[in-house]
Amino acid sequence: MGIKVMVTGGSGQVGSELVRSLLNIGGIDDVYAPSSAEVDLTARESVLGAVTSMKPDWIFHVGAWTQVDSCEDNPKRAFAVNGLGSRFIVQGADIVGARVCYLSTDYVFDGASDRPYLEWDPVGPRTVYGASKLAGEKEMRTQDLIVRTSWVMGEYGHNMAKTLIRLAKAGGGCRFVDDQIGTPTVVSDLVKALVELFMDSHSGIFHVSNSGETSWFQVARFVFELLGEDPDRITPVSSSEMGGYKAPRPKYSVLDNFALRGSGINALLPWQESLSGLVLKLSAGS
Ligand SMILES: NC(=O)c1ccc[n+]([C@@H]2O[C@H](COP(=O)([O-])OP(=O)(O)OC[C@H]3O[C@@H](n4cnc5c(N)ncnc54)[C@H](OP(=O)(O)O)[C@@H]3O)[C@@H](O)[C@H]2O)c1
Repeated sequence: MGIKVMVTGGSGQVGSELVRSLLNIGGIDDVYAPSSAEVDLTARESVLGAVTSMKPDWIFHVGAWTQVDSCEDNPKRAFAVNGLGSRFIVQGADIVGARVCYLSTDYVFDGASDRPYLEWDPVGPRTVYGASKLAGEKEMRTQDLIVRTSWVMGEYGHNMAKTLIRLAKAGGGCRFVDDQIGTPTVVSDLVKALVELFMDSHSGIFHVSNSGETSWFQVARFVFELLGEDPDRITPVSSSEMGGYKAPRPKYSVLDNFALRGSGINALLPWQESLSGLVLKLSAGS
């Protein structure tokens, strides 16, 4: 009998590529990725019903309420989806004997560090979103895998790579913050690492991002240059000049992929290399 896999958030940016990748792996013969209409993470009966009827061996729990600013307005919903939903997934996993891989975020940290965050550094979320994702982490068991990532961009859904391509082609100027430092992560690289970690039976917390660190301003310049557009159309601004966000963005959220390297898994490519591949692919199709 082949491996059966359930994916939450299968319609999202990461989930869409994860499902496609899982379908191409030998030994996996069933991938079930219910939509939020079919299985609502906030409804215990719905989650337990789905898990116990499929009886998956693995659950990739990537579904979450990811609208960082909206989470500030509706903390109860954030904790219901991201915290309680994760508890229900683990309860289902306990019943059927499944392992869980939970996708988490750099927002669990306070953003005040001056060096990349290690997996064991103290957490201290400054947003409701970050606190609710941390609540989800706390529901995981010792046999489960928690992968924290940052600044995700892929082929599906909305993301900064698509916004930058649109702005580059539209002409005119734009502003990007130069005082938020982090690391872009391209979904195809992230998915590869998620699957490798899980197939090798790793558990515990891993940080998985592309290599290097940068600011959104530098990312924007990089994409404009790649598309043959003048990067000087972009003005650097501070987060306080930019304003307009309900949830504070971390000033520094670089994730040290220490556990990944120490477990014999290759570090992800430099962000420039992976992002250029994604941008060229997306812009060729747009
Ligand atoms: N995007 C980033 O920069 C980033 C960075 C770090 C970590 N992460 C984490 O990575 C994961 C995937 O992110 P993403 O960018 O792929 O997010 P996304 O595109 O916003 O997708 C979120 C997914 O979660 C599902 N979902 C939301 N509420 C649900 C509910 N109540 N019940 C069931 N499913 C629900 C959505 O389904 P519907 O479409 O049907 O609502 C969608 O499939 C998340 O756990 C996020 O916290 C993301």
